[in-house]
Amino acid sequence: MRVENHSVNTGRLDAIIQEFGGKKSNLIAMLQKVQEIYRYLPEEAMIYIGDKIEGLSPATVFGVATFYAQFSLEPKGKFEIKVCDGTACHVRGSMPVLNAIRAKLDMKEGQLTSKNGLFSLETVSCLGACGLAPVVVINDKVYPQMTSDAITIILDTLIQEDER
Ligand code: FES
Repeated sequence: MRVENHSVNTGRLDAIIQEFGGKKSNLIAMLQKVQEIYRYLPEEAMIYIGDKIEGLSPATVFGVATFYAQFSLEPKGKFEIKVCDGTACHVRGSMPVLNAIRAKLDMKEGQLTSKNGLFSLETVSCLGACGLAPVVVINDKVYPQMTSDAITIILDTLIQEDER
C-alpha cells in the first residue's frame, strides 16, 4: 500500500490557498481540501495556513478544526470502519464483531488506526438502519447483519484488493 507521506507539501497547500483566493472566509473549504489529500489535518498544514492567510493565526485554524466534527486531527486509514454500537446493534452482537475486527487487524481497544495505516476504526451510535443490525460501515458502504466470520472475510478481501 502506498501511504501518503504525512510531511506536508507546501506547494500543494499554496495551490489550495490560491484556489480559494487566500480568504479567511474560505477557511473551512480549504481545510476540507487538505483533509481530502491527507485524510486528516496534519498540524503542519494548519500552522502553514494560519501563518499564510491574512487575519488568521495557527491557533484560530486549530480552533476551527477542532470545533467541526468533520475534521480529523488524527491520521485516518484508507478504509474507515464504523461499527454501530447503538442499542439494536449492541443487542444483536456488535461487540463480537468489533472484537473480531480488532483481532484481525491487531488493534488494541482505543487504537484508532492500524499499524500499517490501512484501517481506522471507531464505534458510532445508531446509524438509522436498526432493521439491518448489527451494522458496519466501511467508507460509506453499509454491511448489514454482520457476524464475526463475515467481517473477517470482508477485511481479508479489502487487504487483498489493496495488495493488487
Ligand atoms: S442501533 Fe445500529 S443502526 Fe440503529
